[in-house]
Amino acid sequence: GAPVTVDISKLQEGQLLITTWRGSPVWIVRRSAEMLNNLKAVEGQLRDPESQEEQQPVYAQNEFRSVNPEILVMIGRCTHLGCSPSYRPDYPAQDLGADWKGGFFCPCHGSKFDLAGRVYKSVPAPLNMPVPPHRYEGDTTIVVG
Ligand code: FES
Repeated sequence: GAPVTVDISKLQEGQLLITTWRGSPVWIVRRSAEMLNNLKAVEGQLRDPESQEEQQPVYAQNEFRSVNPEILVMIGRCTHLGCSPSYRPDYPAQDLGADWKGGFFCPCHGSKFDLAGRVYKSVPAPLNMPVPPHRYEGDTTIVVG
C-alpha cells in the first residue's frame, strides 16, 4: 500500500484522529502534558512498559513511543483478537477501575491500554498496540508508511 499523508494542524489536545493505512486503522492522538505525565504514573501496571516484546520503529523506542512526545501514532487494533478498542481519555472511570488514567479499552474481552497503547497486566491482549512506520514532513504533516 502507498504511504498516507495526514494533516494534524487542526488536531486539538486530547483529540483522536483516525486514518487508514494498508487496511489498518491508524490512530493519532495529540497528548496533553497531563496525559504524558500519566504515562509514567501507570508504568507499574503495564505488562511491557519498555515495549521490548514489540516490533516498533527505532524512533518510537522511548518512553512516549513516538517521534514527538505529544503525538501518538499507532495501529488502533486490539492485539488479542483484533477488535477496535474505545478511546477512553477521561478518568476516573467507574467501569475501568480506580487506577485508570486514560487510554484505550477493548470492549470485546476487556483489555486495557494506556495512552501510548501499552497493554495492562492481567488482560487478554498479549502485546502493546504497534507503532507503524511514519515520519514528519514539517511540524504538522505525518506520512504513514
Ligand atoms: Fe480485545 Fe479480546 S479482542 S480483548
